[in-house]
Amino acid sequence: MRKKFVAGNWKMNKNVAEAAELMKEIKENLEKEVSEKVETVICPPYLSLHTASEIFAGSNIGYGAQNMHYKDNGAFTGEISGKMLKDAGCRYVILGHSERRQYFNETNHLINLKVIKALESGLFPVLCVGETLEQREEEIHKKIADEQVTLCLKGVSEGDIAKIIIAYEPVWAIGTGKTASTEQAEEMHSEIRNSIGNLYNISTAGNIRILYGGSVNETNAKELFSIPDIDGGLIGGASLKAASFIKIIESALQ
Ligand code: PGA
Repeated sequence: MRKKFVAGNWKMNKNVAEAAELMKEIKENLEKEVSEKVETVICPPYLSLHTASEIFAGSNIGYGAQNMHYKDNGAFTGEISGKMLKDAGCRYVILGHSERRQYFNETNHLINLKVIKALESGLFPVLCVGETLEQREEEIHKKIADEQVTLCLKGVSEGDIAKIIIAYEPVWAIGTGKTASTEQAEEMHSEIRNSIGNLYNISTAGNIRILYGGSVNETNAKELFSIPDIDGGLIGGASLKAASFIKIIESALQ
């Protein structure tokens, strides 16, 4: 059975002291029994990764980064490599978030290079895919998600695909307070799972975890997480408050 997975994407929020405070609050209030059953991950800004390594040492809470470069090192001012993230104790890295695609012009090809390098660096990529509002209105949302999955996973071996977590995040639902309806989420998650089946095989498709992201909160999480093809969530805004985030994690308990 696929273990549920809930990750908090803090985006560009919290300085080091604030991050430490929130991490401690989450760690102290999340019951061990819950974090044993639901894989819990925090993705703070880079500057707070070291703090995460200290605070979460010996706990079940994992941490990761929100982005990385596709080279190991070199003259890439302002960038951070997968190797550096691994060295900082990260287990995960979010790749292809729609905000990276939208504001930093990340293409499927670039994201693919990052996915390959993340795997090579020993990280578990959380690969984000999802359509914009215009694409949904044009009714090409399924095609877009298939294309993103196919292009971003190009060259990923059958052995490595097990390390990938996919997050379906409709762009129109991110930070807008609008969530996909149960039917919309169900349709897209099964579409993505089928894509994986076509690219790899049925058993790989059955094992890969597909998260939902986009305005998940403590009120709607339980319903979303009860959809058979939804294996947890990638949480933005609601992960910035310990009580809300913990309630969302608890909603993932079967
Ligand atoms: P949101 O963000 O929960 O604030 O909508 C989700 C995300 O961007 O991963």
